Amino acid sequence: MAIDLHNLGQQIDFIRRQLPYYLSNKLKYELMRLRFRRRRLGQFAIAGTVGAVLEGITKQAMAQSRPQTTSISATPIDLNSYVDVKLRINGKEQTLNIEPRVTLLDALRERLDLTGTKKGCDHGQCGACTVLVNGRRINSCLTFAIMHRGAEITTIEGLAKGDTLHPMQAAFVAHDAFQCGYCTPGQICSAVGLVNEGHAQSDADIRELMSGNICRCGAYPNIVTAVRDVLEGKQDAAV
Ligand code: FES
Ligand code: FES
Repeated sequence: MAIDLHNLGQQIDFIRRQLPYYLSNKLKYELMRLRFRRRRLGQFAIAGTVGAVLEGITKQAMAQSRPQTTSISATPIDLNSYVDVKLRINGKEQTLNIEPRVTLLDALRERLDLTGTKKGCDHGQCGACTVLVNGRRINSCLTFAIMHRGAEITTIEGLAKGDTLHPMQAAFVAHDAFQCGYCTPGQICSAVGLVNEGHAQSDADIRELMSGNICRCGAYPNIVTAVRDVLEGKQDAAV
């Protein structure tokens, strides 16, 4: 077989010219790999050190905050068992035989037929379920009835005295502060709680302090006017 010396020479020439580039690229690649590995090793070392320090601090803190007594005997609550719960609602003593997990809202609506208190979101976000417990407003969907044994609970049904509306109810009527009325019992109970708290000095305060009560109909301007009237004593706010 005849060897093409000319072609072979050209190939050798080509390799000789490319070799430095090839070697230098290979060298660069190896250097990069080494640098990267060194950086990773450094990070691992730092992370390891920081981790060890944090672990030490955490163990120390946990050891300090750990109660000294280790024998805790908690009696498990059977959520399916029924218990007697005495509640004082709108001035009347009521005894319910309910599961401990029954919310105050469900106890009022489902067991006592006090359906004036409304269930909107059932998640503490709309305020439709607001009632007064010892004069303070709370979302009854977020609390268990059993937690309020002995407390004075006032719902929308308990605000009026016979045929005489509570001043806040009268102000809502006078200022047309509702449309569909679904949010209104919660708005009124919340407004009564706001008056009891005594923090509202301006319309902006009223809006802020009533912001937990949502009105889908957008009756807000009239609600603010009604609450302001009671606050300014144009309507007597005594509960
Ligand atoms: Fe309780 Fe909406 S139903 S906050
Ligand atoms: Fe309709 Fe408030 S009056 S949601």
